[in-house]
Amino acid sequence: MSHITIQGGRRLEGALTVQGAKNSVLPILAATILHPGRTVLRGCPRLSDVEASIRILRHLGCLAGWEGEELVVDTGPMSRGDIPDHLMREMRSSVIFLGAILARLGWAEMSYPGGCELGPRPIDLHLAALRQLGAELKEEGGRLLCGARRMTGREIALSLPSVGATENAILAACGAEGETILFNAAREPEIADLQDFLCAMGCKVRGAGSSTVCVMGRQSTHDAVHTVMPDRIAAATYLSAVAAAGGQVELLGVDYRHLSTVTAALHAAGCQITGGEGRISLRSDGALRSAGTVRTAPYPGFPTDAQAVVMAALLRSQGATVFVENIFENRYRHVDELRRMGADISVADRVAVVTGVPRLFGADVRATDLRGGAALLVAGLAAKGTTRIGDIYHIQRGYADPVGDLRALGAEISLEED
Ligand code: UD1
Repeated sequence: MSHITIQGGRRLEGALTVQGAKNSVLPILAATILHPGRTVLRGCPRLSDVEASIRILRHLGCLAGWEGEELVVDTGPMSRGDIPDHLMREMRSSVIFLGAILARLGWAEMSYPGGCELGPRPIDLHLAALRQLGAELKEEGGRLLCGARRMTGREIALSLPSVGATENAILAACGAEGETILFNAAREPEIADLQDFLCAMGCKVRGAGSSTVCVMGRQSTHDAVHTVMPDRIAAATYLSAVAAAGGQVELLGVDYRHLSTVTAALHAAGCQITGGEGRISLRSDGALRSAGTVRTAPYPGFPTDAQAVVMAALLRSQGATVFVENIFENRYRHVDELRRMGADISVADRVAVVTGVPRLFGADVRATDLRGGAALLVAGLAAKGTTRIGDIYHIQRGYADPVGDLRALGAEISLEED
């Protein structure tokens, strides 16, 4: 199995352009289905989750492939609306295809999406929103059969601001007659990016980024070119890496406003951070202190996806930092791996307390999930000796070239593929 090896203890220096956002490009790839024509995506990261989306598009009869650095999709030839189980299992966000396929064809068939790595991840809110638009849903032998001969726009209130349910509802509403108003929508920047893409191809969506999103359905669409927004979680990962290892790095292409809660935590821990248009710089002498209490929350709160990497940054800090995970039930699977490196972390239910230790030691560890795997990269950079990370396919779901990026900043890191 492939693994990443890190020789820890090097300071990180330099500048890095951050990749396009995974959580933005996946719903956008589903959204391409709404227009029976061509979409060109720029700044699209080459991730295994993107390849999984391409496989789904091709299965549906669409054309999708890389032309140089651009990902080009043509959904004109789309000929089917069912997604087989093995493609659904590859990633959780395959469920976003449901709203888009329904809007395009008036029916869809798929199994429940894969991924329970963070605890139970129900899709009840997705299905409730689609039902309210007029879709009929039934389950047969583990398959979800959806029919919507006619969907009609209406007011929908989500009982909690789920990112995926918001995206699914928006995509389905694009195919519904009249106006849909979505209340208590998730406010993540990736939803605003989805809106930008939808508007670029002729759909009428406004309000994304706020908790009320309005969609006027059944607009005529046209070919579009879109540049994917920068990945704020990849940025948070690299900021955490510099915080942990020490050094000075400038991240380019990022929107510092999307990272305000992450930079606030790293600043509280003693890092010097400045942000400007399209850039963030972080300086750390590697000797951090407690960041107090970090509570994950829907955007604009502290992102659950940054919990593991910021935790890894604080393992050698002076004092104790308390993490409270409010989004997912089981998001501390990386803790056991970090303990192998000498970390002192106690977990009780949704609370993890990190008590800083003077030294971390390199160890053989395994990525348990995407962001938990990224936390091992951060810890490995700050540890004494060699860290060998296995099961890196988790990391490759969300980071296009973590080894190349970190090496460009001076890390001693290599990828051994087999
Ligand atoms: C998205 C992100 C993921 C991030 C998460 C929270 C993508 C591809 N993934 O995931 O990286 O960690 O947002 O910021 O964008 N819930 C229900 N019923 C539902 C849907 C969700 O109870 O129908 C619950 C979930 O179990 C979870 C919470 O709502 O506890 C938030 O989940 P949600 O915002 O939907 O996350 P995802 O869209 O799955």
